[in-house]
Order: sequence, then structure tokens, then C-alpha cells
Amino acid sequence: MKRGLSVVILAAGMGTRMRSNVPKVLHRLNGVEMLKYVIRAVRDLKPVKTIVVVGKQTENAIKEALRDEPVNFALQSEPLGTAHAVLSAKGALRGYKGDILILNGDTPLITTETLKGFISRHRRARKSLSVLSFVAENPYGYGRIIRDEKGQPVMIKEEKDLSPEEKSINEVNSGVYVMDKSIMSLIGKIKINPKKGEYYLTDILSIASEKGIPCGVFNMGTEEEFHGVNTKEDLRKAEQLLRERIISYWTERDVMFMDPKTAYIGPFVKIGPGTFIYPNTYLEGNTVIGSGCTIYPNVRIRNCTIGSNVEIKDSSVLEDATVEDNAVIGPFARLRPATIIKQGAKIGNFVEVKASTIGNGSKAQHLSYIGDTDVGKGVNIGAGTITCNYDGVKKHKTTIEDNVFIGSDTQLVAPVKVGRGAFVGAGSTITKDVPEYSLALSRTPQKHIKDWVKKKRKKR
Ligand code: UD1
Ligand code: CA
Repeated sequence: MKRGLSVVILAAGMGTRMRSNVPKVLHRLNGVEMLKYVIRAVRDLKPVKTIVVVGKQTENAIKEALRDEPVNFALQSEPLGTAHAVLSAKGALRGYKGDILILNGDTPLITTETLKGFISRHRRARKSLSVLSFVAENPYGYGRIIRDEKGQPVMIKEEKDLSPEEKSINEVNSGVYVMDKSIMSLIGKIKINPKKGEYYLTDILSIASEKGIPCGVFNMGTEEEFHGVNTKEDLRKAEQLLRERIISYWTERDVMFMDPKTAYIGPFVKIGPGTFIYPNTYLEGNTVIGSGCTIYPNVRIRNCTIGSNVEIKDSSVLEDATVEDNAVIGPFARLRPATIIKQGAKIGNFVEVKASTIGNGSKAQHLSYIGDTDVGKGVNIGAGTITCNYDGVKKHKTTIEDNVFIGSDTQLVAPVKVGRGAFVGAGSTITKDVPEYSLALSRTPQKHIKDWVKKKRKKR
């Protein structure tokens, strides 16, 4: 029978070294909280349960940040160290039998592949407790793996407890452990570390080995992957590593970045092949970009779905919008939530669109506001057209049917409908529905007063 797996993520530490009021694990890398990266890495292991250990001071903020994540919480009453934190999850694991994967909430670069490899090595070697180690170029601050003359791991020693010779050991503890549930009772036997007044989870290795319990230390993964964040400087480094990782990932998949240093691509973003990205671009949230698109400089796109062969021109901002194939957006365009730009439509300079659908091939090229509007196919919206959708109390809808022509500088006072094929003369204020195929005009007729200027001059 396949063994079950549950996960415990330690996130109750104070994070004092961050010198911040924000809980350490909620500091963001590339716009996403550190802890969410760890949760995402373990999600694909399909655990029975994922328990996040939180502290009193951080509980509310962490629960709020993770409200949409498939995790349970355990409260560590006091920050008494990593062993104490694991024991706090005991209640949440009551009745569970199987393997427990423990990891720190402050190692955001960890990957599913490495975790999978680690668990399968642990199982194949039939160990009851395994520690994932890696070789650090600069091991300072990490617990060192102490091995005997036969190379067998005997204990983990923290920085403060190292002898001068031991300081040069560069095989270190990643903070990732997998153990049989029965090891939990041994964690209860860990004694307080006198130097720091904390119960160190790392002591479990020597306690279990001395009892003859099969223990393994598996050296795997890259140093980058286990980069732990304790300070702001560590956070900056982690963000840099993450950004490089994301850019390489997409570059290998035929996405071109003119200046990778100024491309900020969120970890959940997807980009199609053949897409070209100019400098200073921000792709955020769950944005999906199709293939063959061009994203020009200074564009920010958040939670949008963009089709293929779309051009997003300079300095445009798009949020929670959908843009279909072959559309052209910008320069200086703003798409606000619940906007749908259909195939081949064009939204040009200084045009703002909110909660509206722009039909296939329709165009609003200059200086317009389109809100709460349904625009059909083949519509031309002239420069400076405004939908007056708000009467100070309520929002109202505008409907513009297929093949309508709206002349420049028109105001459409909602609720209002312009019927199919109709033509609205420039400068009109439309307050009543326009019947299909008719011309609507509302401007006052132009009159000329003969020699008015000459007469005025004479008077002076
Ligand atoms: C820990 C390990 C160290 C390892 C390193 C890897 C111990 C004693 N040391 O050191 O061997 O090389 O991680 O990054 O385990 N936490 C709690 N409750 C507490 C204390 C900590 O939940 O009472 C959480 C923290 O929020 C953090 C994690 O445990 O996510 C690790 O704690 P931290 O203080 O960062 O340990 P390190 O000094 O980095
Ligand atoms: Ca740490």
C-alpha cells in the first residue's frame, strides 16, 4: 500500500532579524508572499494534510493571507524553537499514520521535484527519519551535518554551538525532514538548548541515531533552492534568484526578453511561445499571455487573459481583463476589471474601458471612457466619446449594437441604446435610444451673425 504523506510548515518564528512588523513569511518576493511559494511546492506532492504552524503574534495575518489556500493551521503558544513548533502540530495530526514532511516557511525557492526525490530516497532506503542536506558555499548560519569517520551522519550542530574546526563544514541542514509519524514522540524528548533557550528540531538526528533508528541524510538539490530568508538582504537575494529562475524558464520556452533585468514576471504567470517582451514590464497575478504577442515598454498587466498575436503598446495598464486574439491595446490605454476586448478590436491612446465588452474588430482609438457598456462588432467610437454611466447614485448600462458609428466628442447618457447600424453625429449628447440605421444629432444648429466681429471692433 502507498504510504500517506502529511506536511508541516514551520512559520511561527518571530523573524526578528527582518526588523519589520510584517511576519517574516508574509514578506513578498516578486509580489507573492514567501509562504505561498512553499505551499505551492508541497501542493503537488498531494499531501493528506498540510499544516501551517503559526504563532500568537502572526496568527491573524497569516490566516488572512492564506484564506484561499488548502491548508490547516496549528498554533504554537510561544516561539520556543523548531522542535516545539513541530509538536504544536500534534493535535492537527491526531489519528494520522504515515510520513510527515517538515519544512521551513522561509525557504521559498524550494521545488516540488527535489522534495519528491527526497521522499522517494527516504522510502527506498527504508529510513524512519531523513534530513535533506546541501553543500553551501558559505555555510554561515546554517546547521552543519556532523558525520563520523565512516561518513555516517551523527548530529546537526547549529552555528552557535560549533567548534572553530566545525565551522568549515559546508554540508548543511536544509530544514527539510521526512519522518515516520512515530518519530513525533521522540521530538518530545528534545532538551532545551541552553545557549538560545529553544528546543531545536535538529537534535532529533542524534537522538534517533543513538536509539538505533534508521536515519538518513541525503545531500541533494542546489544551494540556491534552499536559500533561507532571515534578513532583508536574504530576501533581496531570494527575489533575485527567483526572477532569474522565472526568466530562464520562459526563455527556454521561446519567450524573448529584450532586457531580462527589467522584466518582472510573477511566479503564477504563463506566457506563450514567440511572445516578445520589451523592458520594464510587469506581468502579475494569474496573468496568461498567448503566443506571438508583443508587450511594449512600461506595461503592467495583472490577472488578465491575453490571446495570441496581441499587441500591448507602451505604458498601458490592464487589470482583471480579457483580450482576445489579434487585438491592439494602447499606447497609454487602461483596461479595468471585467473588460473583454474581442478579436481584432483596437483600444488606443488614452482610452479607459471598465466592465465593458468591445466586439470583434471594433475600435475606440482616442481619448474615451467606456464603462458598463456592451459594444457590438465593427463599431467605430470616435475620439473623445464618453459613456456617462454614473448618475451620482447608480451605474447604468450603455448598449452599442453592431456596425454603429459614434462621432467624436459624443456623450452617451446611460441607460441608453444605440441600435444596429446607426450613426451618431459628432458632438452629440445622446439621452434617448437611437433606432437602428438612423442618424442621431443633438447639437444646436450652427448660426452665423454677419460682420459681428467688425462691429464689435468699431465700438471699442
Ligand atoms: C533552521 C535550522 C538550521 C537549518 C536552517 C535552514 C533549527 C534549530 N535550525 O535554522 O539547522 O540549517 O533552518 O534554513 O531548526 N519557527 C517556528 N517556531 C519557532 C522557531 C522557528 O515556527 O519557535 C519557524 C520559523 O518561522 C522558520 C523556521 O521555523 O520558518 C526556521 O526557523 P529559523 O529561526 O529561521 O531557523 P534558522 O536559524 O534559519
Ligand atoms: Ca531560517
